[in-house]
Amino acid sequence: MTTERNIDWKTCIAMGSVATTMFTLYKLYKQQNTQTPKAVSGVEQLIGNTPLVEIPSLSNHTNSKIYAKLELANPAGSAKDRVALNIILTAEKQGLLIRGEPGWVFEGTSGSTGISIAMICNALGYRAHISLPDDTSLEKMALLESLGAVVNPVKPASIVDPDQYVNAAKKACNEMITKNGVKAVFADQFENEANWRVHFETTGPEIYQQMDGHIDGFIAGCGTGGTITGVARYLKEKRGLTQLHVVLGDPQGSGFYHRINHGVMYDTVEKEGTRRRHQVDTIVEGVGLNRITANFSHGETRIDEAVRVSDDQAIKMAKYLSVNDGLFVGSSTAINAVVAVKVAEQLQAQGLTCPRIVIIACDSGSRHLSKFWKVAKDIDRDISLDEVMQD
Ligand SMILES: Cc1ncc(COP(=O)(O)O)c(C=O)c1O
Repeated sequence: MTTERNIDWKTCIAMGSVATTMFTLYKLYKQQNTQTPKAVSGVEQLIGNTPLVEIPSLSNHTNSKIYAKLELANPAGSAKDRVALNIILTAEKQGLLIRGEPGWVFEGTSGSTGISIAMICNALGYRAHISLPDDTSLEKMALLESLGAVVNPVKPASIVDPDQYVNAAKKACNEMITKNGVKAVFADQFENEANWRVHFETTGPEIYQQMDGHIDGFIAGCGTGGTITGVARYLKEKRGLTQLHVVLGDPQGSGFYHRINHGVMYDTVEKEGTRRRHQVDTIVEGVGLNRITANFSHGETRIDEAVRVSDDQAIKMAKYLSVNDGLFVGSSTAINAVVAVKVAEQLQAQGLTCPRIVIIACDSGSRHLSKFWKVAKDIDRDISLDEVMQD
């Protein structure tokens, strides 16, 4: 009898301690997930884990849930922070750069990647050399110069031209290695697999977690293809190939629209005499291309559809999001938002109630003041979503 009572007493204490431990662990878990993040050492540690925000005006108008993954909240202001850091860390692992020793990173970029590379180079003790089209927005040029990068503006040209910005960067990198014997890498964001892999390893899992695994549509533009490939591959692995509709938002003048929908990389501006600018004929920066890159190839089969958005629609959507949601976004985000409205209607027509859609918000409107927003600011602030969507 006494023994039995002792056992009961011991069991009670044991159960009490288990309950206390579980409660303490739960409190710690809650704290970790709700508290302001702890201080980190170095800005590179702040890259990723970006917020996800619902866009109420679009959700309400479409009877769906449309969210933006705010990549513009990265320290250098775009999704390219993830890519730049991963490219540099990969080069370090390969011994191409050594932390604490002089080293250069060369890149050909229409802006965002250069800014991320310049910032991370400063943080890690390297120098950046950026070649870019000479009609890139003035604020991007100014930012690169302010960050201390060597800036090499070149005429917009086709990739077969040796002076095209990607070719110019590669050439400059080789010259640095042969003439100065310094460690230098060509970041090569279009072909370098460190690009899509970082989105597969970080951006995709973050979105999946933030959506509690419930996501029906994902929309991104395609510059190098790194974002759409990495995220789509991860999400389709998780959701299954048919449970998630992945859509590429393409600006006018780009070839992806025909490539995804009809299997041919072609745009009508390829017709003799109609192209105004050598590369992609649009006011939108960062997305759209007329060639297949390695980063696009690795994800092409995971992209279900491409939707073309005119400059006019993108400009009007940017103003609409700013006025109605306080979201001040860049041109590629505006394209994705136009596509989100179309995809919401499409998924509902297929029988889905209140589809949940995520778009990438790659950068902020402040990167586009002198070009895209110079036009967008003059759009009537009372513009309706139906007027935005008109082509
Ligand atoms: C503003 C902006 N949006 C979207 C993209 C496209 O991202 P990705 O290169 O991963 O296709 C870029 C690429 O540079 C960009 O600068």
